[in-house]
Amino acid sequence: MWMPRPRDGVSMTKETWIGDVRAGKYDGTEVELKGWVHRSRGSNKIRFVVLRDSTGTVQCVVKRDIVGDETFETVKDALIESSLILHGTAEPTDREHGHEIQVTNVEIVGPVNPDTPFPITESAMEQADGGETEFLLDNRHLYLRTSRMTTMLKMRSTVFGAIHSYFRDREFTEYQAPNFVAGAVEGGSTLFEVPYFGRKAYLTQSWQLYAEAAMPALERLYTIAPSFRAEKSRTRRHLTEFWHAEMEIAWGSNDDVMVHGEGVVRNIASTLLDQHSDDLESMGRDLELVARYADNPYPRMRYDEAVETLQGMGVDIEWGQDLDYSKEKVLTEDFEIPHFLTHYPRVAKPFYHRPDPEDPKYVLCHDLLAPEGYGEVIGGGERTWSEPEILDRIDEEGNDREAYEFYIDIRRYGGVPHGGFGLGVDRVCAWLTGADHIREVIPFPRDSRRVTP
Ligand code: 4AD
Ligand code: MG
Repeated sequence: MWMPRPRDGVSMTKETWIGDVRAGKYDGTEVELKGWVHRSRGSNKIRFVVLRDSTGTVQCVVKRDIVGDETFETVKDALIESSLILHGTAEPTDREHGHEIQVTNVEIVGPVNPDTPFPITESAMEQADGGETEFLLDNRHLYLRTSRMTTMLKMRSTVFGAIHSYFRDREFTEYQAPNFVAGAVEGGSTLFEVPYFGRKAYLTQSWQLYAEAAMPALERLYTIAPSFRAEKSRTRRHLTEFWHAEMEIAWGSNDDVMVHGEGVVRNIASTLLDQHSDDLESMGRDLELVARYADNPYPRMRYDEAVETLQGMGVDIEWGQDLDYSKEKVLTEDFEIPHFLTHYPRVAKPFYHRPDPEDPKYVLCHDLLAPEGYGEVIGGGERTWSEPEILDRIDEEGNDREAYEFYIDIRRYGGVPHGGFGLGVDRVCAWLTGADHIREVIPFPRDSRRVTP
């Protein structure tokens, strides 16, 4: 791995990575490793220190007769998560990791005080059993260093990369909207109000309305940004701050937008398979399922059909209700691949959705529902794009026209058919990696009870 170095002055640049040692790249040569103590055991003569860095772990063998008494004692006393620099020879071995280091010298960089040992012990992890206890959430800042979380964060990074590539490869412009806003996008009940110099402002629920403003300028745009929702209920798929990948296209119908929703999700699934098959398997994920989501087109189903199906299954649902998680869970339990649900009732969706000209009881919208009981990962559709229609829709919802003046202007000056969607990045990460809970895929999850650490 190439790393830039300063032209002059002191460099602490690391050049050797444990992942490369494990790949056998350094067998028979002298290396310098920088990292943290993952585990340590042994006797008064020999210590086996498992060293961790961002690329993995490797066993390092420290012998008293080679490193000398003083160094040996420091190593012996080095507690879990002490940081150190060591020198030694990499060599192949029959033991656990296939390669190990015969250590010649060790320097402790950041020691750990024995009065305050690293709190995340193996027994705490066993208790949590892959899930997350309050204890692990309280110590989230330290939990990030565990292999499970490190692997998850790397897959998350890959998901972000796959979204960026999808849109950039298709000449979309990345575009940013404000996070302080004056009005709701997705209904008032989940708005976070913030005091704003004697006025009220809100944290944005979606980039969409401001993206529509730039639609006549850029025509194809996208973002990945945080969105905020005051979700009171704590569920396995809701955060109060989540990462939202959104896109908007001019000259786009509901069908045109769905093409991109399917495209980006399939691109995420195939990129994860390409780059993280081993990681997915280590998390217990069935790779065949992920391959199925990457390889197949996603079928479409109208809302009415979904409601009939659910009613046929004995689920208590009335026409006109939006599908909440409990309903989506039942509906998607038997899905083999994601499905688009289209044509929701106008009464179930926010004002910006365009009524279907063929039957204005419905709107031209879609939700993408992930299988395995996971439910909604995308919401999108065609926008109400003429001035009279948008005024009607704003009034119908009892919204204040003034807060949406700029939004109405977009229709006053050369409105065109357009549309877009929002994809919950954390939800897609949780679904594709097989995480039980959305909290597992984001470094510092926020819900109604937690803003710390
Ligand atoms: O369906 P939603 O509310 O749609 C919008 O916000 C549109 N304005 C997007 C657009 O057309 N540009 O949210 C979109 C997606 C959902 O499908 C879900 O995946 C995710 O955002 N999402 C959440 N993810 C985690 N926690 C929450 N509280 C979420 N709320 C929505
Ligand atoms: Mg939705």
